[in-house]
Amino acid sequence: VASVAQAAVVEYTFNVGNLSISQLCQQEMIITAVNGQLPGPTIVATEGDTVVVHMVNESPYNMTIHWHGIFQRGTPWADGPAMVTQCPVRPGGNYTYRFNVTGQEGTLWWHSHFSFLRATVYGALIIKPRGGAKAYPFPVPDEEVVVILGEWWKRNVYDLQQEALHTGIPAAHADAYTINGKPGGFYDNCSAPNQTHKFELKQNKTYMLRIINAALNTPLFFKVANHSFNVVAADACYTKPYKTDVVVISPGQTVDALLVPDAGVAAAVGGRYYMAVIPYNSAVNAINASVLYSLTNGTAIVEYAGGPATSPPMLPEMPEYNDTATAHRFLSNMTALVPNRVPLAVDTHMFVTVSMGDTFCGPEQTMECNKNRTIFASSMNNASFILPNTTSMLEAMYKGSIDGVYTRDFPDTPPIVFDYTADASEQNATLKHTFKSTKVKTLKYNSTVQMVLQNTRLVSKESHPMHLHGFNFFVLAQGLGNYNETTDPAKFNLVDPQERNTVAVPTGGWAVIRFIADNPGVWFMHCHFDAHLEFGLGMVFEVQNGPTPETSLPPPPSDLPQC
Ligand code: C2O
Repeated sequence: VASVAQAAVVEYTFNVGNLSISQLCQQEMIITAVNGQLPGPTIVATEGDTVVVHMVNESPYNMTIHWHGIFQRGTPWADGPAMVTQCPVRPGGNYTYRFNVTGQEGTLWWHSHFSFLRATVYGALIIKPRGGAKAYPFPVPDEEVVVILGEWWKRNVYDLQQEALHTGIPAAHADAYTINGKPGGFYDNCSAPNQTHKFELKQNKTYMLRIINAALNTPLFFKVANHSFNVVAADACYTKPYKTDVVVISPGQTVDALLVPDAGVAAAVGGRYYMAVIPYNSAVNAINASVLYSLTNGTAIVEYAGGPATSPPMLPEMPEYNDTATAHRFLSNMTALVPNRVPLAVDTHMFVTVSMGDTFCGPEQTMECNKNRTIFASSMNNASFILPNTTSMLEAMYKGSIDGVYTRDFPDTPPIVFDYTADASEQNATLKHTFKSTKVKTLKYNSTVQMVLQNTRLVSKESHPMHLHGFNFFVLAQGLGNYNETTDPAKFNLVDPQERNTVAVPTGGWAVIRFIADNPGVWFMHCHFDAHLEFGLGMVFEVQNGPTPETSLPPPPSDLPQC
């Protein structure tokens, strides 16, 4: 008889504070980190458990923590995005996050949701099946390994964000890509070996990698020399086993993959191989394509026991930085492991453009503003999202006083229909002017929402990782070009579509998602590139209360931080 663990309470304390660290041949610099670790602590829970995290803010910045991918059913006050579900915790303050991990299992993660601080305030959140590893719907691995991909900045990321905000110029790309917090030996000669993460594997054992992209702004190609992968889950949802030699992963996404060594590799003693990432950047006019590509690999070393062998590690052959064909194949070929219960009747249809590079005419909020004052902005359906600054949106919803906090007029369709994939210079200039607003789309409790997310090319062509808080959604179809509402619905997978919390909307293309709004609250949807979120690439769903107290907003916890 299989023994099944009782649901438990797993409890952690997160002290967020300064960490002095040296990377990339630099002098020590101060970063913000949890419990003095980079990446921060891994939370491990079992499906059905209650997770309690006491967050103590000893950093000089405002702070919140978001539990990326957690449904937060009945616990909307624990979701974490600053000014959406809570006011941030001030320096010296604290807040306890309390939520259940029921009805979900796999690899998720947590990160700061204030300014750009998630660059260093992040960690893994793993939910094991209630029946233990033997309940996995794939061959049980001997060991599991967390692989967190990130970015490293040679400067203070809070300053970086403030600068972007005040100049209106998006932050430049990172100085390095990291694996488990370390950039690896390819950037500077002085950085090896203690700046290279090493994974020590035993002969003839099987390993599952829990891969998380925690980078601020970069989708990544991920490979291990002389190994391939059998992908078994993405965003904590099981997939049909998918064999590939490259994993494509956007900020916010996770991939669980069994590591498959080439013949002879797993049995050999002391073999050493590089694990490597390079950016996937599809912007045709990527200003810094050459710089970006010269950064090339963030690396780690995979070493089999008995080593190290004297030979240097093997490097994997990486795709080109703009290899959209490879990215699109990986992202669109996956399906759910078993048929999903996709809701077939849609209550709310939305068609939403996802744009980077619209200009915003400063605080005047008028189309006639001085062209010399235009700055970058991003938008969805030409609305550029800005956070409120007096109270959180969830408190406003709960108290029923939203005036001055948000408005309920997020548009279901773009103001003008145009050729979304045409070159920027051919676009209607009107669309490049957008206005800062805090618009929500209000949804009836339990309604089914379908959203077509259409990338535009108003300035540049990029794949935007769109993340929805509070829900998973089904990705019914993805394609390149303009979405065609007559012919494309025939391509919908209504049987076993992949389920995700973050979809990489293809560059110059579209994705269609569907979800059931069965959790009252305010739920952020945004591009998981912080550089784009900063400029307004987001919107919020307000899900109304259901008919019973159990399906209505609970009162806020007594320690909810005040603005
Ligand atoms: Cu992982 Cu709103 O973010």
